[in-house]
Amino acid sequence: MIDSRAMNAAPNTTRLAEYERFPYTVESVDLTFDLHPSETHVRQISTWRKIIPGVTSLELNGKDLKRISIKIDGELVDESRLVEIDESLLIRQVPDAFTLEVVTQISPEANTALEGLYLSNGMFCTQCEAEGFRRITYYPDRPDVMSIFTTRIIADPGYPVLLSNGNLISENQMEDGRREAVWQDPFPKPCYLFALVGGDLAVERDNFVTMSGREIDLRIYVEKKDLNRVRYALESLKRAMKWDENVYGREYDLDIFMIVAVSHFNMGAMENKGLNIFNSSCVLASPDAATDQAFQRIEAIVAHEYFHNWSGNRVTCRDWFQLSLKEGFTVFRDSEFSADTNSRAVKRIQDVNFLRSAQFTEDAGPTAHPVQPLEYQEISNFYTLTIYEKGAEVVRMIRTLLGPELFRQGSDLYFDRYDGQAVTIQEFVGAMADVSGRDFRQFMRWYEQPGTPRLRVYMSHGSATGKLTIQFDQKAPVIAETDSHEPYLIPISYQLIDRESGQILVPETLFELSEMSTTVTHENVTGVPVISLLRGLSAPVRLEMTRPVADLIALARFDDDGVSRWDAIQDLYIQSIGQLLKDPTSPVDQALIDLVCELIRDPQMEQDPACLAEMLALPQDNILWDVFQPADPQAILSARKHLRQALADGASKYWKILFETMMPEGPYQPEASAIGRRSLAVTALAYLAKIEPVDTILEDLFTNASNLTERFAAYRIARSDAAPELSDALSQKFLDGADTDEVLDLWLSTEATNERTATIERVRELTEHERFEWTNPNRVRAVLGAFANRNVEAFYSADGYRMLADSVLKLDAMNPQIAARLVMPLCQWARFGPSYQDKIKSELRRIIGRKLSKDLVEIVSKSID
Ligand code: TRP
Ligand code: ZN
Repeated sequence: MIDSRAMNAAPNTTRLAEYERFPYTVESVDLTFDLHPSETHVRQISTWRKIIPGVTSLELNGKDLKRISIKIDGELVDESRLVEIDESLLIRQVPDAFTLEVVTQISPEANTALEGLYLSNGMFCTQCEAEGFRRITYYPDRPDVMSIFTTRIIADPGYPVLLSNGNLISENQMEDGRREAVWQDPFPKPCYLFALVGGDLAVERDNFVTMSGREIDLRIYVEKKDLNRVRYALESLKRAMKWDENVYGREYDLDIFMIVAVSHFNMGAMENKGLNIFNSSCVLASPDAATDQAFQRIEAIVAHEYFHNWSGNRVTCRDWFQLSLKEGFTVFRDSEFSADTNSRAVKRIQDVNFLRSAQFTEDAGPTAHPVQPLEYQEISNFYTLTIYEKGAEVVRMIRTLLGPELFRQGSDLYFDRYDGQAVTIQEFVGAMADVSGRDFRQFMRWYEQPGTPRLRVYMSHGSATGKLTIQFDQKAPVIAETDSHEPYLIPISYQLIDRESGQILVPETLFELSEMSTTVTHENVTGVPVISLLRGLSAPVRLEMTRPVADLIALARFDDDGVSRWDAIQDLYIQSIGQLLKDPTSPVDQALIDLVCELIRDPQMEQDPACLAEMLALPQDNILWDVFQPADPQAILSARKHLRQALADGASKYWKILFETMMPEGPYQPEASAIGRRSLAVTALAYLAKIEPVDTILEDLFTNASNLTERFAAYRIARSDAAPELSDALSQKFLDGADTDEVLDLWLSTEATNERTATIERVRELTEHERFEWTNPNRVRAVLGAFANRNVEAFYSADGYRMLADSVLKLDAMNPQIAARLVMPLCQWARFGPSYQDKIKSELRRIIGRKLSKDLVEIVSKSID
């Protein structure tokens, strides 16, 4: 019997330090696809020229390919000149310049990994980032090899729409009845941006006139049944195109821009040149089939992928260690777009909340890595919150340090200097250094060191002298075991306000902390100063500071920075939950209840209902687990429920009126102010449900709602608080009305998480539902992802861990990327108390004892030895 460890042993590690240029240029690539569900033939004809003397062999990548033939300059290459190991094919003794012809055969219908060419509901589509192109043909599957692609697609008449990157060159009917389309992309690109689509699709069209007056043909292709849900994405695309011209001076470059929605997709969307491919859940929206949150997500993702046309495509990554060069920058760009388009304060609060609850967790756990990683086993595992969200925060700090004008100059220089090239993060920062004359050497530690640095602040104020001293201390991240961590350059934005009046005592100041410890002083400070710190989260650090309740209350009441107000009340909630954990019978501080009542009455808050809704939402589990170490998820859950009840009772006279006055009337509008009002109305209704029966209101809301946001809220609140009959009835009605996959997923995830009915048995039932499909990542995320990440009660138990582990193993054989993501909650065992740890670890050991994909091995083995 083979040792199971040996089966999973020693996957190859790729290291940044070992980067070498590819020794050939590829002048052009001509691909011909003969599409067939089980036997697609791909012919590649490409021209090569050696650029590093002395090299005599050509190393290509290939995976799961059936090799039909390989020719060089028209001659068949003999097997004796080929060496195939793992995912690489070596061709020996190649000339200095030559034409390569490769024919491979692949089976799209057997491809459940959803990388390379696959079928989704009968539609051919591709996903090549990061290393999917090697599942199509033998090629140097690395982003620094750029070429001009021409793609000929041949298919049966059942697939009338045939798309690829660039411009349509020709289309014709062939003699045998099949159809053919030829596309050419004039911009050199790496193969990860290659895309192909073939299917029977409907299209919605529009156009956009660019800043230089060129007219761009815009198209969104979807399955026919979905054509009535594409308008919002198309409008979002036009807004994004306009914004990129206004804010970054970036114009679209091809004559056509296409988006295709597919139902089987591992991530949100993909920025293939001129042919973005989207998870259908990130495109399709209509008032009765998408919530407000979905509308906003769609707008942001459409913008994100569009923005990649410059930050990612025109200027691309030298290697995958530079992933954040495109992802961090593009997330920063899309978040600013959303802030400009909707509410800046709310967008920032949501982003900060996400960063702290999810990225900080990653940064403190077994898969922590720098924004520019040094090594990886499987690159798919590095599409992380650190690369995306922390990477965006680092770009944001660069803009904070430079100011908007210099930042724009730096971005112009970067795009201009590196257009058509594959570059590194150092080159991006170098452009910022060049326009500003600033030395970024210390700043680069944000890219190089893993973990979240900590900040401690000590203040003293002489009320007689008016002298205020503030001491800023930075501490290395907790995960930094050694002292090799060097101090960061931390931009700290702060302001001082008076505790009683809220008056600004010291206006907003940006302090650059570069040492481990620095003290700053302010003279003539009157009143009782309270510090508003890291305003707008000016740096992605953890603030380690026990702030007096009175100070936090003053910040929540008076501060003029939304993030700071929100952060202050979150801190109060955390302190209050801490009290309850110590003594579950202790009463909730009346001062906190009074604050909540005051905020609700505050006329300024009335103007920003979405901010108030954010302030009324209690901290997420991840944040609490982090504070109360080692965490007891069940105890924390009940403390949180207790606090929620106390707030509901304490502000009881406001909830109904808030619900009634805030809910917008008239036709549904997915725009910021209506979304903000609805979000506050729904928050209020959820609190109201904790103090009195709201069954009639829920039934009414469900029946008369003009949109899914309200109907979904009614169902969700009924599930947790209404009488069981109504709860079951609304669940059934919501499912009956779920005529799209997106609404089905809302139902599945609610059923998998709701506090009263989502037992493990129920979750298992959901995976057996007739509309559940193991091969569809959206279904898997809706049931199992929701269960593991949002159903504390059922998941944090021996049976819960087993259920997830079984699912991970089952999925790993079909779709390793999804299995490796789904297993993550188990890998966080070290945060929990001993009785939790042992049970989680035994499931991890069971997993590691099996034959696993390289994706899953890397994640699981990092979390357990
Ligand atoms: N580059 C894409 C984005 O963030 C995401 C992406 C990377 C992706 N790898 C993928 C999407 C694999 C689907 C499948 O915009
Ligand atoms: Zn991206």
